[in-house]
Amino acid sequence: MSTPVRTASCDVLVVGAGLAGMTAALEAARTGSVVLATKTVLGDGSSRWAQGGIAVAADEDDVAAHAADTLAAGAGLCDPRAVAALCAAGPAALRALLGRGARFDTDASGGFSLGLEAAHSRPRILHAGGDRTGAVLSAALALAVRRSGVAVHEEAFLVDLVVRDGRVVGADLLLRGASGEDAPLRVEAGAVVLATGGAGQLFSRTTNPAVATGDGLAAAWRAGAGLADLEMVQFHPTVAAVEEPFLVSEAVRGEGAVLLDAAGQRYMPAVDPRAELAPRDVVARATGRAVAAHGGRPALLDATGLRARTGAPFARRFPGIAAMCAAAGLDPDREPLPVTPAAHYLMGGVRTDARGRTGVAGLWAAGEVACTGVHGANRLASNSLLEALVTGAAVAADVAAVAAGADGAPARFPADEVVDLPGEAGVRAAHVPRRDVRAALWEHAGLFRDAAGLAVAAKLLTPEETPLDLAATPGAGRRAHEDANLLLVGRLLVTAAALRTESLGAHHREDHPETPGAPRRRTLRRTA
Ligand code: SIN
Repeated sequence: MSTPVRTASCDVLVVGAGLAGMTAALEAARTGSVVLATKTVLGDGSSRWAQGGIAVAADEDDVAAHAADTLAAGAGLCDPRAVAALCAAGPAALRALLGRGARFDTDASGGFSLGLEAAHSRPRILHAGGDRTGAVLSAALALAVRRSGVAVHEEAFLVDLVVRDGRVVGADLLLRGASGEDAPLRVEAGAVVLATGGAGQLFSRTTNPAVATGDGLAAAWRAGAGLADLEMVQFHPTVAAVEEPFLVSEAVRGEGAVLLDAAGQRYMPAVDPRAELAPRDVVARATGRAVAAHGGRPALLDATGLRARTGAPFARRFPGIAAMCAAAGLDPDREPLPVTPAAHYLMGGVRTDARGRTGVAGLWAAGEVACTGVHGANRLASNSLLEALVTGAAVAADVAAVAAGADGAPARFPADEVVDLPGEAGVRAAHVPRRDVRAALWEHAGLFRDAAGLAVAAKLLTPEETPLDLAATPGAGRRAHEDANLLLVGRLLVTAAALRTESLGAHHREDHPETPGAPRRRTLRRTA
């Protein structure tokens, strides 16, 4: 990037404005000056697209059961202490949300209407606007942020973190002005919080919005932070197989919808006793196999029984999905919906402890960009919004404690296996077209992986020509930075998938079907 022409400073810079970023900003504003920078507009991130809801222990007795379900879904890779803390924090996070104006759907008795999703032992999913939970909560927090003292920079693209003497001291942004031109802005900050979400755009089929290009992951890597368990990508089993694909929430199966193959046969009962409500990785793989067995013809999600069971049309409980079905010419009350799996959520990410501290002083991370260990190898449905709220608040509390004089030493992760990658120097380099990166990842690092395919992907992601180093390319635009970030994170993901020669949760190796007894978290680290 060329020399920034403008600078600003604050106590805390939060990058990303989904639920994690907005929560962190609101909490941090209680004790200091806060700048919130977001790539598009406030509240526009993956959080906004969450349909099913937010998992919160239904009462104190349910906290342990929620934790047990999270650990079981996570296939042995969760950090049990982090999980216990997440589930215990649920009721307080819910109260804070209500205090910020969020409202949830209620039942006839006036209590919260609780949904059921896969791998939950009981209904505990709060939802809002039927199936528009993410949008309703994002709007409530966006309003709260606008009414707070937080300085908001919209259309602000994260180019890189600023590192001085081994410490993150700010970030370089590209800020879009009224004329539509990007201008550089450097924000110096006592603490930087990454809440930039995931990297679903790495895959040619994804539920993620266009902004999910791994910018925070790539910037953290270049700044020297470790990235853990990047191979752990959750694939959602039911994404509508139409021209404009859209998520069909797991909550639809929670309400009784069943999966059929293209020949009309129900396949899940033969795969798992929990059938359509088996953990998401199990249903996604079975659906992938059902699609492959029928020459690529989509599976079918049959929700036609819901109306007979409840007496209400599909649109009453799922108005958002019903509207998208209508736009695609589908009627879920009358016909099964064509569905296929797609990349949905990154369980891995910037390695953080429960306070959101990374391995680099001055840098915290919260939400999908972070890997706190709560999701293990397969995230339990609807735990992501909960994690965003809980870690957003935890990060702000830790930042405030450090500002007040607590030890701000970077986090250490002694139990992790650490792999140093001297080859990945972290330059911002482009030159493999985005569509090729996405196709390579989907084809070779998707639902089913093996060494040969991962080697093909690694080669496809290694440009033959000398890559363009954006650090030395003044005026490089957002798209070029995004492409470089996708390429970098894609390469790291493929490396991580090749290193894990075992099958665990969402990471399925056809050549290594065995599941380890005591899996370890693996953190990749950049060395010069
Ligand atoms: C869904 O509604 O199926 C997605 C919810 C989630 O990702 O937890």
